[in-house]
Amino acid sequence: MSQNILVTGGAGYIGSHTVLQLLLSGYRAVVVDNLDNSSSVAISRVKELAGEHASNLDFHKIDLRDKPALEKLFASMKFYAVIHFAGLKAVGESVQKPLMYYDNNITGTIILLEVMVAHGCKNLVFSSSATVYGSPKEVPCTEELPLSALNPYGRTKLYIEEICRDVHQSDPEWKIILLRYFNPVGAHPSGHIGEDPCGIPNNLMPFVQQVAVGRLPSLKVFGNDYKTKDGTGVRDYIHVIDLADGHIAAVKKLADPSVGCEVYNLGTGKGTSVLEMVTAFEKVSGKKIPLVMAARRPGDAEIVYAANGKAERELKWMAKYGIEEMCRDQWNWASKNPYGYEKSA
Ligand code: NAD
Ligand code: UD1
Repeated sequence: MSQNILVTGGAGYIGSHTVLQLLLSGYRAVVVDNLDNSSSVAISRVKELAGEHASNLDFHKIDLRDKPALEKLFASMKFYAVIHFAGLKAVGESVQKPLMYYDNNITGTIILLEVMVAHGCKNLVFSSSATVYGSPKEVPCTEELPLSALNPYGRTKLYIEEICRDVHQSDPEWKIILLRYFNPVGAHPSGHIGEDPCGIPNNLMPFVQQVAVGRLPSLKVFGNDYKTKDGTGVRDYIHVIDLADGHIAAVKKLADPSVGCEVYNLGTGKGTSVLEMVTAFEKVSGKKIPLVMAARRPGDAEIVYAANGKAERELKWMAKYGIEEMCRDQWNWASKNPYGYEKSA
């Protein structure tokens, strides 16, 4: 019998790719999403891509804070584990609307954990972020670096990590894996699923993608006076399929009796500058991305990349794709779906 995995936020960018990889790995996936930042078309596309496994995917439009609805779902079936992606993630918006972020991300998580424990499901994989390293004092970022947050979004990640550590401490039956993602980019190689942010994108590659399809005129480069190879910020970009596979590795790891509350970086261990990323994208897409040099973005770190040895050793997982494949798949998705899911070509 295949294991049932509940995926909160499974209609979103990383969630949809992870659901597909779960299905292809033989799991059953039940997605809970309020579609606040996603489209049900993503779920239909995942089903198409999953082929013979499509019937192993169910979708429920539920807000995590709707405890009775979540209770009803947990009463209707048993889950081996929960992969918890659901959350709001726009840094700027979190500064404007901190209470909305604390309510959605933290209250949503607390309700989820309460319902899980009430139904005897104590296996959790949580989407944390490299944002918990704040402006890291050294790179590569190992999991042991001191934690800090620069904005309310980051604080929700930090607080949820702490909540998870407390929950595990109170009841060692819990097995919790906190995955700190670096910078997810790219899309499924088919170009059928990808990132479809609402409004003007905050992150680099969704912005580049919209410039490439003519929706935005130019990319503002936030700072070219950093102490980096070309003056622009350096990040650890990771292909979303590699990231999705990292979740399969984490779900498998939950079966290891030694697991308590563990934390793993999911990155490639390589740093790439903004200009290098743009050049790689221009090469694979054949599109010129006009650049405007702009001031540094407040709260931005200079150089962030992962120490990935722990995930490699303990999860037996390693990123396979490089920058060129990330840009190729980002462009494939963008050119096939220039306006995202709702108005795709
Ligand atoms: P996303 O916005 O595409 O997906 C999140 C999904 O959660 C959306 O489909 C949204 O509708 C849903 N959701 C939000 N609040 C909900 C609620 N209360 N109840 C039910 N559903 C809800 O974002 P993503 O990029 O796929 O990110 C997934 C997770 O990974 C988030 O927790 C995010 O903070 C974290 N993360 C993302 C990145 C990144 O760069 N994309 C980096 C580090 C961590
Ligand atoms: C941002 C968030 C971080 C979050 C991460 C992944 C901020 C301050 N930080 O980090 O909390 O975890 O996304 O969702 O928002 N850049 C440009 N022009 C743009 C956009 C970005 O030059 O229009 C540069 C940035 O300055 C940075 C790099 O591109 O050097 C990557 O930016 P981005 O994709 O936003 O990711 P992070 O800065 O790592």
